[in-house]
Amino acid sequence: MEASGTLRSRYCGELRAEHAGDDVRLCGWVHRRRDHGGILFLDLRDHTGVAQVVVNPEARELFARAETVRSEYVLAVAGAVRARPAGTVNEQLATGAVELVCARLEILNPADTPPYQFEDAQVHDDHRLRYRYLELRSPQLQARLRARARLAAAARAYLDGQGFVEVETPMLTRPTLEGAREYLVPSRTQPGAFFALPQSPQLFKQLLMMGGLDRYYQLVRCFRDEDPRQDRQPEFTQIDIEASFLDEDALRELMEGLVRALFAAAGEELPAEVPRLGHAEALRRYGTDRPDLRIRGLELVDLADLMTDVEFQVFREPAGRPGARVAALRVPGGAGVSLKRIEEYTEAARAHGARGLAWIKCHDAAAGRAGLQAGFLKFLPDAALAGLLDRTGAADGDLLLFGAGDAAAVNASLAHLRGVLADDFGLREAGWRALWVVDFPLFERDPAGKRWQAVHHPFTAPADPDPERLRADPAAARARAYDLVVNGVEIGGGSIRIHRPELQRAALEALGIGAAEARATFGWLLDALRYGCPPHGGIAFGFDRIVMLLTGAGSIREVIAFPKTQSAQCLLTGAPDAAAPEQLRDLKLRPARAPA
Ligand code: AMO
Repeated sequence: MEASGTLRSRYCGELRAEHAGDDVRLCGWVHRRRDHGGILFLDLRDHTGVAQVVVNPEARELFARAETVRSEYVLAVAGAVRARPAGTVNEQLATGAVELVCARLEILNPADTPPYQFEDAQVHDDHRLRYRYLELRSPQLQARLRARARLAAAARAYLDGQGFVEVETPMLTRPTLEGAREYLVPSRTQPGAFFALPQSPQLFKQLLMMGGLDRYYQLVRCFRDEDPRQDRQPEFTQIDIEASFLDEDALRELMEGLVRALFAAAGEELPAEVPRLGHAEALRRYGTDRPDLRIRGLELVDLADLMTDVEFQVFREPAGRPGARVAALRVPGGAGVSLKRIEEYTEAARAHGARGLAWIKCHDAAAGRAGLQAGFLKFLPDAALAGLLDRTGAADGDLLLFGAGDAAAVNASLAHLRGVLADDFGLREAGWRALWVVDFPLFERDPAGKRWQAVHHPFTAPADPDPERLRADPAAARARAYDLVVNGVEIGGGSIRIHRPELQRAALEALGIGAAEARATFGWLLDALRYGCPPHGGIAFGFDRIVMLLTGAGSIREVIAFPKTQSAQCLLTGAPDAAAPEQLRDLKLRPARAPA
């Protein structure tokens, strides 16, 4: 090999018939070594693809060296490209018309036997995460990370073009009250005090508006100490945005432009129409505030008013109780489903909080009771049954599934079942469906039902800007907030913000943060609001989720180079881990029990 410059003249995946006769130098990993009757074939791989390298036995020293080569050895090879002999062309491979006749071969680094076969689907995810750098060599992860970089560039290009300025905000900061548990970082210089890692740059971006930046954005890492799941990681990336002197319509229009630009960068197209749906209506029809509009039909049908007097306690009790719900899903053509499958639906519903899942199979609607199959029919009087059939529109061959109980559990379980049923019965359309969910309540009860908590965050503006009315009736307050949902995934959320100190104080009070605590924790924000704060609003997009959707990945883990596990660990580096005693001494912390 030449002593200087780049070791290669081409990438492996670039070789084509027209390169026959060229001398080329390639570098990469040995994908496979095959011995064919004394001739060695090395499939050399880099991120662009695989090239076939032929080593003939006549070149003895070269051949002997090539024979020592194993999977994942790192090589530099050089030689002439030639057309593959007739009959050996591989149509499946982009480089399959040619091969490189090896004239020189240098082992840049040998490799131990890989700890698992890349193609082996049985390998446990934890094992793959431990050797993530090997996994990164797969064409799939390569494609996803490259797509991610293209999307980031497209976001920046669009936002730069619209006059947004990228500004970095602190990672070592204060808790922001955004709702999730925070990661804390102990301060050495202030013993006993802690920084919080930001859940989002929410308050800093608002301060940037007060600072006259006018339009801000940032591709920014955020940290939330929540249990990871398919679309959640403890550290994730937002496209964070804030702008001054505009209302929610103007903001939404700008943001649809951004999402369109991202889709275009991935060769996809968002539908021209992005409808708006009220939060209450979303819950009523779909049981969730992030409905997948690709699912045809399968809307929840409310039945409580029909069930207040029936004998069937499972329906009667919630029918008369505030905060409870009785609702049905009609599955067209579902009556043929096995009882075993219904049992699986029931388990799925239970996993989402339901007590059980009542059902009716409608075999012959005209025959009345006789045409129906269900365990609880005898507890339903004729009128309730007729009303139920009429309202759900049950027809011959349909299956009805019922949720009854606390509204939250009914909603969560039926919303989940819609997805399962859509897949079972082919009711999910292909393509993209987006919507804005709007008209959220400002506050909701915390899970214990004792206090108010912000549905988005405490800096969201109420539709009614009067602080007295907010104080008097926080339950009635509507938020100037909006979430963008694509194919059932919440890809972004934001709001117009409170820009007057009095209203901000009232919102904090409603959350149980009194004047003294507000001053101690948010005095700096309340002060800033007094020195000329423009009306402003913004949004944050979950960048990982967008990349997941646009690359067809099954989880955001697949679009993050070094993701964490379900228990928020990095199996590759072993983080988190115990700190060294001298580090703890510096921080004036005592070690807890050693981690398991
Ligand atoms: P929010 O908390 O809704 O809003 O977050 C915005 C978007 O970030 C994504 N997201 C996540 N992605 C991966 N893993 C997580 N753990 C995670 N949590 C959230 C979602 C979500 O829609 N400061 C406000 C925004 C604003 O008001 O401007 C905020 O952070 O796609």
